[in-house]
Amino acid sequence: MAVELELSAAGVAQFKTPLLALAFDEHPDSKSVSDLDGTLGGALQRAIASREFRGARDETLQFSGPENGASRVLLVGMGKVTDRPGALRRAAAITARQATKLGSGSAAFYARSLGEKEIEAITVGLLAGAWEYKDLKTPPPDDERRAPLANATILADDNDASRAGFSSGQAIGAGQSLARTLAMMPGNLCTPDLLAKTAGEIAQRYSMKLTVLGRTEMTKEGMGSFLSVAQGTPQDPKLIALEYSGGKAGDKPIALVGKGLCFDSGGISIKPAQSMEDMKFDMCGAAGVLGALEAIGRMKIPLNVVGLIGATTNMPSGTAVNPGDVVKSHLGKFIEIINTDAEGRLVLADVLSYARRFDPAAVVDAATLTGACVIALGHTATGVFGTDEALLAEVLAAGRRGGEPGWPMPLWDEYKELIKSDVADIKNSGGRPAGAITAAMFLKEFTDSYPWVHLDIAGTAYSESDLVAIPKGPTGVPTATFIEFVRGRLT
Ligand code: BES
Ligand code: MN
Ligand code: ZN
Repeated sequence: MAVELELSAAGVAQFKTPLLALAFDEHPDSKSVSDLDGTLGGALQRAIASREFRGARDETLQFSGPENGASRVLLVGMGKVTDRPGALRRAAAITARQATKLGSGSAAFYARSLGEKEIEAITVGLLAGAWEYKDLKTPPPDDERRAPLANATILADDNDASRAGFSSGQAIGAGQSLARTLAMMPGNLCTPDLLAKTAGEIAQRYSMKLTVLGRTEMTKEGMGSFLSVAQGTPQDPKLIALEYSGGKAGDKPIALVGKGLCFDSGGISIKPAQSMEDMKFDMCGAAGVLGALEAIGRMKIPLNVVGLIGATTNMPSGTAVNPGDVVKSHLGKFIEIINTDAEGRLVLADVLSYARRFDPAAVVDAATLTGACVIALGHTATGVFGTDEALLAEVLAAGRRGGEPGWPMPLWDEYKELIKSDVADIKNSGGRPAGAITAAMFLKEFTDSYPWVHLDIAGTAYSESDLVAIPKGPTGVPTATFIEFVRGRLT
C-alpha cells in the first residue's frame, strides 16, 4: 500500500496533522512561519536562538505542536544548501521515514513559496521515504501494529507550478518505488518471467509495445553470448523490449538498457558465500529501466523511448558454460569466457547489439557490472563511461539532477590490451587491474552504431547500511538518472 499524497494550500498554523515537518538550511529563520510560531508561543524561535536546532544536514528536532493544529512539529536540517531540490528531497524522505517510525499514519510537509522543481523534489522524497517492502513479513497483531504512512500533505502555494511539480514528482516516485520493490524481491520471486510480466503491465497501462524473446527466439537470433550465461539455468531467459512512442513517428528513440541478472551465483567461477544473497540485486539496471518507463508513461513525455532488458540467472550446473569456452555473439564477434562470473557483459553484449534495430539516437545502459567499480568509487558515485563527450555531459548532468551523481571514467584504447584473447576476438575478463574499465571496454566493442554511455551502478544501486534518507537495501539508482536523461532531451 503506497502513501496517498495531497497538495493543499491550507494555512500551516491551524493545520491538523499528527506530524508537521519544516525544513531549514544552515541559517534557520522562523520568520517565514511566524504565524505558526505564534501559536507555539515562540518555541520555534527559541529553539533556533538557543542553537538547540541549527539546521545542520540531517539534524532533526521534534516538539509538541500548537493547541489547535499539528500534534507534533518536526524540524529537519538541510545544512549548507547548494542544490535546493536535492536538499528538500532528502528532508522530505527523512520526514516520511520519521512518520513511518512513529506510526503517525499521516504527515504534512511545509512547502510554501517554492517553485516547481522544489515541489517535485519534495513529492519524490516523501514517496521515497515512505517506501517499504513488507510483502514477506507476517503483519504483527493489531495492538502491536504501527500505522503505515497512509497519507501525506504538501502545504504549498495554490498555483500551476505546484501542481506541475506535484504531478511529475508522483510519476518519478512511482517509478523509483517500482524499481526498489523489484530489486528487493528475492530471486525466487523476481525472476526473468516476473520482469517480463511487469514490463507487460507497464505496456498495457501506457499503450507501449512489448516484445519478449525467450531461449528459442534468442537462439534463432544467434545470441550466443547472452545464451551462454543462461545455459546453466532451467528458467527461460528473457530479452525484453518495451517501446514507448510519445514522440513523432520516425524520430529516433532513446534506448535505456538494463542488466537483469535475477541472481548471480558466479556460475562455474562460483562466488564466495559471504554476501552472495546480495546478488539478487544484480537486476537493478533492469529495475531502473522499468521504473523509468513507468514514470515516462505516467508523465506522457513527448519522446520516443525504448527500454531493453537482458534477464536471466547465472548458475553453475552440468549444462553451464565453462571457463575457456568460446561463444559467438549476436554481433558476430567471438568471445572467450575466462570467468563465468563476468556474465553481465556477456548478456549486455547481445542486448546492445540487438539495440541497433531500433536505430537509437543514443543508448544508455546501467548495470551492477563490477566489484571493481565499488573499489574505485565506493557507494557514493556511479561509474560513467562513454566516448561521446556531449552524451557523457548530458548523462552526468541528469544524474546530478536526479540525486544520483556519477563520475567519469576513462575508456582509452590502451585498456583494450587487457581483454585481448589468445584464441578468440576478445575475452570477457581482463583480471583485477582496471576491472570496471575493462568491463566497459568490453561493452564498447558492441556499441559502434550509436552514441553510448555505460553506467556501472554496482556501488550505488543498493546499500549494505542505512543511509538516513533511505534504509539498507535498494536505493532506486539508476531510475532517476534515466528519467532525468530522457527529460533533458525535451525542447
Ligand atoms: N554482479 C557482479 C558485480 C557486482 C559485485 C555487483 C559486487 C555488485 C556488488 C558481476 O557480475 C561480477 O561478478 N563481476 C566480477 C567480474 C570479474 C569476474 C572480472 C567482479 O566484479 O568480481
Ligand atoms: Mn558476476
Ligand atoms: Zn553480475
